[in-house]
Amino acid sequence: VIDIRKLYAATDAFTYDPGFTSTAACESAITFIDGDKGTLLHRGYPIGQLAAQSNFVEVCHLLLHGELPTAEQYEKFERSITMHTMLHAQFDRFFEGFRRDAHPMAIMVGTVGALSAFYHDSLDIHDARQREISAIRLIAKMPTIAARAYKYHIGQPFVSPRNDLNYAENFLRMCFAVPAEDYVVNPVMAKAMDRIFTLHADHEQNASTSTVRLAGSSGANPFACIAAGIACLWGPSHGGANEEALTMLKEIGTPDKIPEFIEGVKAKKYKLMGFGHRVYKNYDPRATVMKESADEVLAAVGDPNDPLFQVAKELERIALNDEYFIERKLFPNVDFYSGITLSAMGFPTSMFTVLFSLARTVGWIAQWQEMIGDPTQKIGRPRQLYTGPTERDYVPIQNRG
Ligand code: ACO
Repeated sequence: VIDIRKLYAATDAFTYDPGFTSTAACESAITFIDGDKGTLLHRGYPIGQLAAQSNFVEVCHLLLHGELPTAEQYEKFERSITMHTMLHAQFDRFFEGFRRDAHPMAIMVGTVGALSAFYHDSLDIHDARQREISAIRLIAKMPTIAARAYKYHIGQPFVSPRNDLNYAENFLRMCFAVPAEDYVVNPVMAKAMDRIFTLHADHEQNASTSTVRLAGSSGANPFACIAAGIACLWGPSHGGANEEALTMLKEIGTPDKIPEFIEGVKAKKYKLMGFGHRVYKNYDPRATVMKESADEVLAAVGDPNDPLFQVAKELERIALNDEYFIERKLFPNVDFYSGITLSAMGFPTSMFTVLFSLARTVGWIAQWQEMIGDPTQKIGRPRQLYTGPTERDYVPIQNRG
């Protein structure tokens, strides 16, 4: 690894690297990915083990504090989250300002950014205690904001958080309960929701995380930085891909149409959505867990013979045995099965990226915390290769033409 800081310290030379395919912008001790082997570790722990044996709140502690919590630490950490789930009452008016049919991601960008107008007391980024309170507030309030954005989007009354439920159960209840009606959270749904949150908690320096770091490098407050991350995640090449994968499966429709579809991919007419990754050149380890969750959710609350799931499994089988995909090291990524799972759980496609942003908030905030605590970090300021005109004299408007 070349340390560019040392290499270019005394010169004005710089690298030209669009897409940052070979430029590291920071050191980080949070998440490790070995794309060739298909390994994803959070603070050293494999994602498969965390998804099977841990839970999202514990993973939040791990990402933020570097270690799995003891029983006592877990209890304290979870309590601090449940104590901050409510939104300020004036948020009601803020939501009401959005158009009736506003996209929930538009609501997320606006309302999460607005948290900085409500919680002035935790905006001092140089005070570790205040940074911690902001982190807890964000993790605690994201489900409330996301569920509220959903309810607003579909025109239903808002359901308040219930602090006797766990993180995933509380979120599902806020989304699917109707006031004055009993709602019992299905345990299979709650487990799947928690796993989906865990699988999306962090993924090192992806576009939205880099956006959060870049925004934070100027000293912007954490709520503003997370709002910037949400805006970046909204794009179809990043958080929006699971929606595209589901649309693709619906368009294929039945397994017998797969060969024709594959021919179109090879002819570069379109991409196989939910396949391929900038870093993974092997099976995305999150996709393995997501496929299991899809199986469990469909068996419990959907149709175990769901035609889209059959198409997905057959498409995967055919692609993994096809030279075109083998040569290019194209494997399913986390998005391939997540759309099917979320859809079976009852979420409309407009909520898929919202759920991703809810889960990724802990990763963004852990990365932001790490950056603020790193004395080598400077304001992010990429260089450019200028391609415009050379210096020329101003021409008065009457002399132009
Ligand atoms: N389907 C078909 N062919 C593909 C796909 C795909 N999904 N992905 C890459 N390829 C092909 C390219 O056409 C290219 O072929 P060529 O060598 O013949 O020109 C080759 O594989 C290399 O592809 P690149 O575009 O160089 O790969 P890159 O690393 O830039 O792209 C990306 C990664 C954007 C994820 C891409 O694989 C893609 O668009 N996949 C579909 C969208 C998707 O699922 N995104 C989710 C990412 S995971 C996440 O954000 C949580």
